[in-house]
Amino acid sequence: MTTLFTDVYMSPRLLAPGGTPADLSTHEQRYGPLSYGDPATVLRTLAASGLTGRGGAGFPAHRKFAAVADAARRTGRPPVVVANGAESEPASHKDRTLLRLSPHLVLDGIQLAAEAVGAEEAYLAVEDGASYLESALAQRRDPLRVRVVRLPARFLSGQASALVQYLSGGPARPTHPVPPVRERGVGRAPTLVQNVETLAHLALVARYGADWFRSAGTPAEPGSALCTLHTAGREVRVVEAPFGMPVGRLLPLDGASAVLVGGYHGTWIPAAEAARVPLSPAYLGAGVLAALPADRCGVTETARVVRYLALQSAGRCGPCLNGLPRIAEAFRILAGPGPQGRARTDISRWAGLVEGRGACHHPDGTTRLVRSALTTFATEIDAHANGHCTATDRTPLLPVPAEKV
Ligand SMILES: Cc1cc2nc3c(=O)[nH]c(=O)nc-3n(C[C@H](O)[C@H](O)[C@H](O)COP(=O)(O)O)c2cc1C
Ligand code: SF4
Repeated sequence: MTTLFTDVYMSPRLLAPGGTPADLSTHEQRYGPLSYGDPATVLRTLAASGLTGRGGAGFPAHRKFAAVADAARRTGRPPVVVANGAESEPASHKDRTLLRLSPHLVLDGIQLAAEAVGAEEAYLAVEDGASYLESALAQRRDPLRVRVVRLPARFLSGQASALVQYLSGGPARPTHPVPPVRERGVGRAPTLVQNVETLAHLALVARYGADWFRSAGTPAEPGSALCTLHTAGREVRVVEAPFGMPVGRLLPLDGASAVLVGGYHGTWIPAAEAARVPLSPAYLGAGVLAALPADRCGVTETARVVRYLALQSAGRCGPCLNGLPRIAEAFRILAGPGPQGRARTDISRWAGLVEGRGACHHPDGTTRLVRSALTTFATEIDAHANGHCTATDRTPLLPVPAEKV
C-alpha cells in the first residue's frame, strides 16, 4: 500500500492529484489534448529538454530515439516501441503507481515515441495491472495499437534484452548485448525500450516544451523524478521530486544510520552524508530511497538482498553464475556473529572478477551495492567479527520476494 505526498516537494507533474486515478476525460482536462508535432520537432524538443531515462541507467532519451530512427532508416525495417513497466525492483513502487494514477500520460508517451521514430508496433510490458491498462486503452482512439503484455515476476524481466527476447517469443532472460536492441530487438527490428516514467515525461515535454521541463531540477540535471521512499514504521510512499533536492529533504533521516539510494543495484550512504546529497540521475537508479534506522543492521539487510540478487542471476554468464552466490555466501558470514576468515577480502576480489563480465549489468549493480555496504557498514562488520551486533530490532526493512529460482 502506498500513499502520496507529492505536493510537499513540488507541484506534481506526473501523478494525478489526490491519489485518484485519472480517466481519459480527467486526463485531457488536466493536461490538454495531445498534439503530434512532426517527428523532427519532437526529437529536437526532447534533446533540448535533457530528459534522461528513469528506468535505472539515466541515459539521455533523445540519443536512444535518434539511434533507433537511424537504425530503422539503415535497415529499412520499421521500429518497435516497448514501454517498460516491469518494475522488477522489489523496493520500487513508482511505475505501478504512475500506471495506476496516470495511465494516459504513459499511453500518450508511447504514441509520441512511436510517431517520433516511425514505429509500426508498440508494447506496454507490465508484471501486473494488465486488465486495468486494457480498460484505459479502450477509452482512446490512438493511431497505433498498443499491446499490453504481462511479464513473469523476476528481477531480470525488466532488463531491456530480456524484455525484447520475451516479446519475440523466448524466455524473459537477458541476451548478449551485441547488436544492441536499438539495432536488433523485437522480431529483429530496431527497438526503442523506454521506462514508462520516461514516456510520461515525454508526453509533458511534447505539450509544454523543453523550457517548461527545465523549470524543475538543475541546469545540468533538469526535470523531476518519481521516488519510492521507505521509512521504518511508515507506509511506503511514492513522491515526485526535482533533481538537485537534497535527499534529507525528501526522506526523514532522524535516527537513521544510512540510506540506500537507487535500489538493489544502488549505493548505501551514511545518513549524515545522504542528507546533503542532491537527487541525481547519476545514482538515483530505479528511484528507491530507503532510510535504515540506527537500531537495524545494514549488514543483515544487505546480506538478504544480495542473496536474493544472486538467486535472480539468469545463469548465462560464468562470472555471474559462480561469482554472485559466492559473494552472497561471504556476505552471510559477515552478517553473522564471530570469525569471518577471508570473507571481506574474498568479496572485494570476487566483485572485481564479476564486474563488467556479464551479458547484462546485473553483476555490476550487485557489486555496487556490496562495495558500498562494505564501506558504509565497516564498523558494524568489525563488531560482528567480535561477536556483537548493534541492532536491537531485527524486523527486515527492505522487501525481498519469496525465493524462486
Ligand atoms: C537487471 C536489470 C533489471 C532492470 N529492470 C528494469 C525495470 O524493471 N524497468 C525498467 O524500466 N528498466 C529496467 N532495467 C533497465 C532496462 O534495461 C533499460 O535500460 C530501461 O528500460 C530503458 O529505459 P529508460 O532509458 O527510459 O530508463 C533493468 C536493467 C537491469 C540490468
Ligand atoms: S550477467 Fe548474470 S544476470 Fe546478466 S545475463 Fe549474464 S548470467 Fe544472466
